[in-house]
Amino acid sequence: MPRVDFPPCKERLADGTEVLLRLIEPTDGPLLLELFNVLSPESIYNRFLTPVKEVQPEHLRRFVEIDHWTEVAVAACLCEAGRWRIVGVGRYHLGPGPHEAEVAVLVGDPWQCRGIGGLLLKKVSGLARSQGVRRFVSTVDPCNMKLLRFAQFYGYKTTRRFDDGLIRLEAELDG
Ligand SMILES: CC(C)(COP(=O)(O)OP(=O)(O)OC[C@H]1O[C@@H](n2cnc3c(N)ncnc32)[C@H](O)[C@@H]1OP(=O)(O)O)[C@@H](O)C(=O)NCCC(=O)NCCS
Repeated sequence: MPRVDFPPCKERLADGTEVLLRLIEPTDGPLLLELFNVLSPESIYNRFLTPVKEVQPEHLRRFVEIDHWTEVAVAACLCEAGRWRIVGVGRYHLGPGPHEAEVAVLVGDPWQCRGIGGLLLKKVSGLARSQGVRRFVSTVDPCNMKLLRFAQFYGYKTTRRFDDGLIRLEAELDG
């Protein structure tokens, strides 16, 4: 599998706002912490499937030390009040099956429903395809209606229900 090659690029949201998409870097810890601090408990639960009150330094390290080979993470950044902040992250890691990757998208509550999650999902789908991935899978809470609408729009189907109440979503990556 080749390491992904992704030079930073700018995209526009439907409302005209410019978003910078780039790979997560090892120095992004403070920007990710800032993003975490504006997340609602609901968004935190929906992303991590457990309540998280505080990000431990080892977790933060885990989020920024990405090899961009077996695991890829893309940050969506907005320039607000003269400085760039990370407002969302799309990531995947290869597996569990061949040509599969587990995907997760997170957008900070103040910036949700503006198209940023969709931008991130499209970007990581393209990167995954370039690595030979054909299917994205994700384990989600069935009460996460926003995610389910979002996922349905992007062609995800429920494939399994687990005993712990979580569901498995899968989507074939086109092209
Ligand atoms: C799920 C999540 C990533 C979506 O991010 P987002 O930036 O709000 O997503 P978008 O703005 O691109 O799209 C969201 C909405 O538009 C819909 N949508 C997107 N593009 C669309 C289009 N072209 N036409 C119609 N509907 C569209 C989605 O289905 C969704 O619908 P809603 O507004 O009725 O809820 C975000 O809500 C989030 O981070 N939630 C918390 C964490 C989480 O649940 N992560 C997923 C677990 S892996």
